[in-house]
Amino acid sequence: MTEKFTHQPVLLQEAVDALAIKADGIYIDGTFGRGGHSALILSQLGDVGRLIAFDQDPEAIAVAHERFAGDQRFEIVHENFSVLGEVVKAKSLTGKVDGVLLDIGVSSPQFDDAERGFSFSQSGPLDMRMNPQQGISAAEWLSKAEARDIARVLRIYGEEKFANKIAFAIIDQREENPITTTLELANIISAVVPKKNLKKHPATRSFQAIRIYINRELEVLQETLEQVNDVLAIGGRLSVISFHSLEDRITKRFIKKMTSEPSALHDLPIKNDDIIKPMKKIGKSIKAGEKELEKNPRARSAVLRVAERVS
Ligand SMILES: C[S@@+](CC[C@H](N)C(=O)[O-])C[C@H]1O[C@@H](n2cnc3c(N)ncnc32)[C@H](O)[C@@H]1O
Repeated sequence: MTEKFTHQPVLLQEAVDALAIKADGIYIDGTFGRGGHSALILSQLGDVGRLIAFDQDPEAIAVAHERFAGDQRFEIVHENFSVLGEVVKAKSLTGKVDGVLLDIGVSSPQFDDAERGFSFSQSGPLDMRMNPQQGISAAEWLSKAEARDIARVLRIYGEEKFANKIAFAIIDQREENPITTTLELANIISAVVPKKNLKKHPATRSFQAIRIYINRELEVLQETLEQVNDVLAIGGRLSVISFHSLEDRITKRFIKKMTSEPSALHDLPIKNDDIIKPMKKIGKSIKAGEKELEKNPRARSAVLRVAERVS
């Protein structure tokens, strides 16, 4: 196994077990990363099983080609998983997919590579795009955004109490010099956030917020979940791992909506058994156990939620 494949997948066994893999089934891994979950899915598929993986990061795509070259059951798609429905339709697989796995957020190789601009502790270009070939970098956005928009992003996506202070400090700084590196931004934030009682680096929340905004992470998750029921076969499973409370809330609400009685039917004289619920919830939310946390502290905030298409 080369260095590129050493990313430790979070909730690996739990998330794949939740898909209840059928050897001849069709599966989607929406977040290939370094292929930890994909490898476990493939190990449970027989010769006619199929795995279609997505990643928006060109580096993940290169790893996928290298790692699973020659495996006829595997295919990698260099797209945002938000086009899941279209891709599946183009392959005439709508309603035929047996499982969709989403392990959202950034991978540790993305985070650890200073050149990607996700880390406040190493100097690198202030980029933060999971797909550097699309959209605008964090530096470009911060060079033009209004203070109130910056503050809103920090407050909503980072729950940053000092959002206004940080936003004004960014505007002041950029009037002198453009902010182009991660360390420049981290220093601006550190200078205005009070250190008292801080358990994490003062820039943690702001970096997370800017990354979520730049990659449209929450919108994309919502748009994708809305497509999942059409993509899945009856009995097909959805397995979502999230690392952030806002992402988990979106998944939780989606599953709640899909597993509740349709409100339009409430007034009709029908029996409980006749009520059509598109999905059923499978088990409770799952968190990483002590053993996994010892090996991989990154798993601390991970939450897995699972649902199954029933109609
Ligand atoms: C947490 S890692 C996944 C790790 C993977 N499960 C493994 O075992 O290696 C998330 C990966 O999903 C990708 N990703 C995140 N959001 C995405 C999106 N909306 N569309 C496509 N890929 C996405 C990231 O580029 C990253 O490679």
